[in-house]
Amino acid sequence: MDLPQQDRDFEIVLWGATGYTGRLVAERLAGQPETAALRWALAGRDATRLTQLRAELAATAPHLRELPILVGDAGDERSLEAIVRRTRVVCTTVGPYARHGSGLVAACVRASTHYCDLAGELPWIRRMIDAHHEAARAGGTRIVHCCGFDSIPSDLGVWMLHDAMRQRGTRLQRVDAWFGESSGGFSGGSFASVLELLDEAQRDPSVQPLLEDPYALDPAPRGGPDGPDPVGIAWEPRLGCWTAPFVMAAINTRVVRRSNAVAGHPYGREFRYRERMALPGGRLGLPAAIAVAGGLALTQRAARHAWLRRPFERWLPKPGEGPTPEQRARGFFVTRLLAEGEGGVTLHGRVEDRRDPGYGSTAVMLSESALCLARDPLSTPGGVLTPASALGGALLARLRAAGMTWVVEADGG
Ligand SMILES: NC(=O)c1ccc[n+]([C@@H]2O[C@H](COP(=O)([O-])OP(=O)(O)OC[C@H]3O[C@@H](n4cnc5c(N)ncnc54)[C@H](OP(=O)(O)O)[C@@H]3O)[C@@H](O)[C@H]2O)c1
Repeated sequence: MDLPQQDRDFEIVLWGATGYTGRLVAERLAGQPETAALRWALAGRDATRLTQLRAELAATAPHLRELPILVGDAGDERSLEAIVRRTRVVCTTVGPYARHGSGLVAACVRASTHYCDLAGELPWIRRMIDAHHEAARAGGTRIVHCCGFDSIPSDLGVWMLHDAMRQRGTRLQRVDAWFGESSGGFSGGSFASVLELLDEAQRDPSVQPLLEDPYALDPAPRGGPDGPDPVGIAWEPRLGCWTAPFVMAAINTRVVRRSNAVAGHPYGREFRYRERMALPGGRLGLPAAIAVAGGLALTQRAARHAWLRRPFERWLPKPGEGPTPEQRARGFFVTRLLAEGEGGVTLHGRVEDRRDPGYGSTAVMLSESALCLARDPLSTPGGVLTPASALGGALLARLRAAGMTWVVEADGG
């Protein structure tokens, strides 16, 4: 018998705390004034490494000397059950999620434990929707994927513009988003997740059509006005720059569209969303756009063939490895969004952070998503959701308070 959420031992269990990103999330939770009174626990598969991590956290936050430690294994269903029953929220960085994540999601849905992760593996998220959305909705359990750099700037950026349009008495028709102004690194776990996805696409012929479906994460019947992701380069007169395909659009655009669909189309059934990479507008812009578009197309083709990519894999960071603290300190990103609404209203959005997008900013976004699930009075229903459809304005307020920039400006000001 599962305890009601308010009676559980913990508000948050951080699953995968000893991994590269898990550690950053642990450090963030340990360092926040709000979390001084948080009931939380570190969880993972190795008690010794968890104890070592706790000692490191306690060196700067002595109140964490007795922080509880929970041990389990992603492949051991009983251990997962025992962990998820004790907490209101599980926050997980154990990836690749397609390899290690399914049992945890199932256990959370069974125990009515809210859940957030950093998954960007679209076919796996589709499987979690198909397997658990109805049960999670019935139990009021929020299962929230994609709570990192993919896909919060896109998903919550659009939600922010939708809210701003609503306040002006009108409704969104279309949003374009541009990424590109950024500096950041990659970790072994992120590469492992991409390779897992590529292997799956090679094994299973149903995966490639799913990846190409712009509404791949929508409820049935799937479809809408957006076509396939635009390929090639283009001049963007509204920004005065060249654009090229953006690699993360493949997940971000599907998440934004699911946010609309799963919440009953608050952005409208004819809402359109597109995401591109912006390059400089000067003389270097055109060759840079050609290089990005050509490089991406070649890499995507070559990566589909294991024999072509295997020789390069040995140079990639291994699980547990990632950018150094010095590299992370140089990180930043700026995402620009342009919204068109009914009645010719145009709004500009900007999402910006002075941290490494995939790790510094992601640790902030994931930890705030977990805190939001654990502590904020949310009125959204349960289900297999997206950051915007589950957490919306409550998460936006938290991310602003955490030092990220989320602004909306009217045209010309
Ligand atoms: N969306 C984004 O913006 C974003 C950003 C960053 C990361 N990510 C994703 O986050 C995930 C983690 O990345 P990372 O670089 O932090 O990976 P990592 O360093 O390899 O960490 C993976 C974690 O999983 C744990 N683990 C592995 N097998 C396990 C098992 N059988 N049972 C329990 N725990 C197990 C590892 O435990 P040990 O510590 O004991 O080895 C480690 O804690 C990846 O899927 C990555 O794609 C996404």
